[in-house]
Amino acid sequence: MNNSLKPETLCVQGGWQPKKGDPRVLPIYQSTTFKYDTSEQMAKLFDLEESGYFYTRLQNPTNDAVAAKIAALEGGVGAMLTSSGQAANFYAVFNICQAGDHMVCSSTIYGGTFNLFGVTMKKLGIEVTFIEPDASEEEISAAFRPNTKALFGETLANPGMSVLDIEKFARIAHSHGVPLIVDNTFATPINCRPFEWGADIVTHSTTKYMDGHATCVGGAIVDSGNFDWDAYADKFPGLTQPDESYHGLTYTKAFGKMAYITKATAQLMRDLGSIQAPMNAFLLNLGLETLHLRMPQHCKNAQQVAEWLEANNQVAWVNYPGLKSNKYYELAQKYMPNGTCGVIAFGLKGNREDAIRFMDNLKMICIVTHVADARTCVLHPASHTHRQLTDEQLMEAGVAPDLIRLSVGIENVNDIITDIKQALAK
Ligand SMILES: Cc1ncc(COP(=O)(O)O)c(C=O)c1O
Repeated sequence: MNNSLKPETLCVQGGWQPKKGDPRVLPIYQSTTFKYDTSEQMAKLFDLEESGYFYTRLQNPTNDAVAAKIAALEGGVGAMLTSSGQAANFYAVFNICQAGDHMVCSSTIYGGTFNLFGVTMKKLGIEVTFIEPDASEEEISAAFRPNTKALFGETLANPGMSVLDIEKFARIAHSHGVPLIVDNTFATPINCRPFEWGADIVTHSTTKYMDGHATCVGGAIVDSGNFDWDAYADKFPGLTQPDESYHGLTYTKAFGKMAYITKATAQLMRDLGSIQAPMNAFLLNLGLETLHLRMPQHCKNAQQVAEWLEANNQVAWVNYPGLKSNKYYELAQKYMPNGTCGVIAFGLKGNREDAIRFMDNLKMICIVTHVADARTCVLHPASHTHRQLTDEQLMEAGVAPDLIRLSVGIENVNDIITDIKQALAK
């Protein structure tokens, strides 16, 4: 398909390209396995000499169509779906890092990713240094070591809502000969395309706005194809030296710009197996078909709710990058001129118990461990998603203990504000 088509068209028509007599709607290939006529045909697939399907853990036509749509939306050369956003971030890093390696990462990231990198990756021998993303280029550069293999950040940090200065991060990463990996979950490619600002790899928790209806946990990794792995061949032997598990094939030689994403699929997914179910990929595709309609509505509603909260004297502070008073307003205007997302962080005057009482009194807005779907929902990260973090780690992650995360949906905004108003009154 012509990838120069506009995002709205790609949302609806990208990915699945039916041929004569094929179903118009993306079919669910609910099959683990695929048939061949000769043993040799199958052997060629195993040797990566020919492309084709043989086992759904490696590739499946439904998943591939959805991955192709996401790649087109982000402007990348290829993408891979994973079973969750956690798997996407793990694979994105593990594809180029091994025991003994090091990564630099923004400290204001989702709590689950913070744990994955700070605790679990450490057990695998990969060390991560967390840096304050608003620090100067010199300060961030000081965290790099000879064995550093990547720089990582979130376009919009969950739940702190800080905006990543992608160009600055890309400059720092490239000056150290490593790729910039950006988790673009909250912005989605409708509001920001990190590759256009120098990012090399993009990840997603598709569980959020991409699915948009809270039906499926899922993730995606997208490769820009822009990072020159061969220019830093010693740093990235997994891509630039023969892979014994594929008869000595070298990914950069065999696949060029597709080296990174092919290795992620052919080697990591083969060995670790966190594949997205084709049924979930189908549902994700339905969500993607309206992403371009939903994101502007999330942003419009959130802007109004944020302005209303800011003007309310029971509210201590509001953090929404669309507010002119916001620290990240300028960065948000630069990277996301059409809006950021529907997530607002705010704190009430009073104590932690007041925040909890406010949430308990909401009627239409529900308390759920989720964010970024069509229904407005609310969460207190210090008591829920981030409860494993110490107060110090919470502050480092940009999460004040009184922070309430409000994920504004696509309902009528007056109903959302009315619910907040009555809960505050109580
Ligand atoms: C920015 C971000 N990245 C990754 C994840 C992890 O995704 P998942 O829950 O799909 O594993 C989340 C989950 O909230 C997230 O908000």
